[in-house]
Amino acid sequence: MKTKPILFLSLALTAAGLARADQVDAATQARLERLKDSGSPVTEDAAKVAPPQQPDLDAETKARIEAFEKAGPSQIDVSNYPAPIKADYELFREKCTLCHKLSRPIYSTYATPEEWSHYVKRMMFRPGSNIGTGASKKIYTFLVYDSSIRKKALLEQKLAQLTPEARAVQVAKIKEIVQQAEGK
Ligand code: HEC
Repeated sequence: MKTKPILFLSLALTAAGLARADQVDAATQARLERLKDSGSPVTEDAAKVAPPQQPDLDAETKARIEAFEKAGPSQIDVSNYPAPIKADYELFREKCTLCHKLSRPIYSTYATPEEWSHYVKRMMFRPGSNIGTGASKKIYTFLVYDSSIRKKALLEQKLAQLTPEARAVQVAKIKEIVQQAEGK
């Protein structure tokens, strides 16, 4: 008879959406760790965000993820980036650490606007991503700008492999973002 009132109370609390924020489950705890890792502010709100569903990853993907995490710090030094890009970085840091560490996009081999557009959309449409159209555009802008600096060699290599027409489209997109960011 002892457990019954407690069970009833917790059911009632859950039903009313009042489950206590300090009752953090393992998935939320993991998310908080990732946020701490990325240098993002860890707020009480973060603990209340429902952990998104993670598909089961195969061994190869898991190995790749581990390699990303060992590649270097899960932050980018944006101190020399223009102010609007610094603001976009904050959003990137906040939104893209919900399901994995920031090291995944940081050390991924995606570099062209086309690749980032595709990937940001893919992440945005994952259940529970909490990324809206406005945020996705800003994150895309950050990633294209960042790739033009931090992944310059890789980006040039990728652009060189495109047809002249496709390359012109990508180059124009990069130029637009860089010029806008630098206020030119
Ligand atoms: C809702 C959960 C979720 C959010 C939010 C999320 N991701 Fe992901 N991300 C995943 C999952 C799951 C995978 C692995 C499966 C896949 O590649 O789709 C992944 C994989 C990736 C990869 C692939 C790495 C590789 O080469 O395999 C990159 C890059 C990436 N995410 C970038 C981002 C960026 C940038 C954002 C923010 C716009 C973001 N993610 C937000 C769940 C998420």
